Amino acid sequence: MDIDITQPVEIDDGVFWVGFDDKESGLHCNPYVLVDQGEAIFFDPGSVPHFPQVLQKLVKVVEIKQITHFVVTHQDPDLCAAIPKFEELVYGNGGSARIVAHTRASVLIAHYGVRSEFYHIDLNDWKLTLRSGRELQFVFAPYLHFPGAYMTYDPTSRILFSGDIFGAFSFDWNLYANEYYIEAMKAFHENYMPSNRILRTAMGRLDPLDIKMIAPQHGSIIKEDVRRYIDVLRELDCGDYILHQD
Ligand SMILES: [Fe+2]
Ligand SMILES: [Fe+2]
Repeated sequence: MDIDITQPVEIDDGVFWVGFDDKESGLHCNPYVLVDQGEAIFFDPGSVPHFPQVLQKLVKVVEIKQITHFVVTHQDPDLCAAIPKFEELVYGNGGSARIVAHTRASVLIAHYGVRSEFYHIDLNDWKLTLRSGRELQFVFAPYLHFPGAYMTYDPTSRILFSGDIFGAFSFDWNLYANEYYIEAMKAFHENYMPSNRILRTAMGRLDPLDIKMIAPQHGSIIKEDVRRYIDVLRELDCGDYILHQD
């Protein structure tokens, strides 16, 4: 099946990938938007240089004022820095939004000059209920790679929006993971994630969840054999960058 990545790609009912093929970077970024009964939830929206291309795709699937939540897995600029630019359009068109984050990340996200109020997942029972009653669940993943990092599980679509976790370096990028993805994913985690103990704890928290697809912020979407990827990370030795100190 040919996928036109110059357009938004509906990866599941009402869930769209709105990224682009960033040929110059070895660390590809993936923003996603979930549309639920007119409400749009924007996951890891992206960076300032990516803003024009992401916006161009976003407006093909939602009206900008439909965005009610920016769900950000942590405070890194590759996923947060464009929030003030999106906010300008949301509020300028009569909308309003909240930033869904862990309290530890919100302290840092504030430095981008955001105007939306925060919805702190750790103070709200690790879930968010949308207007329709649909519930998103948050899975705490501390130190992967930030103390307040987390993943979002949507029980309706059974998609796990995983942030940096399950990401990969991607010099040869595909929207969906192929047979080479496990090695690329391992290399990324060996460098970025601090230890097997920490990774193993987060993988254990995924065990009770019925996951159909993993949508990471870097690399490719995993839609087949999801458990295999979880098991690879469960066993992976990481924190390799300690060997590169000279
Ligand atoms: Fe990050
Ligand atoms: Fe990232």
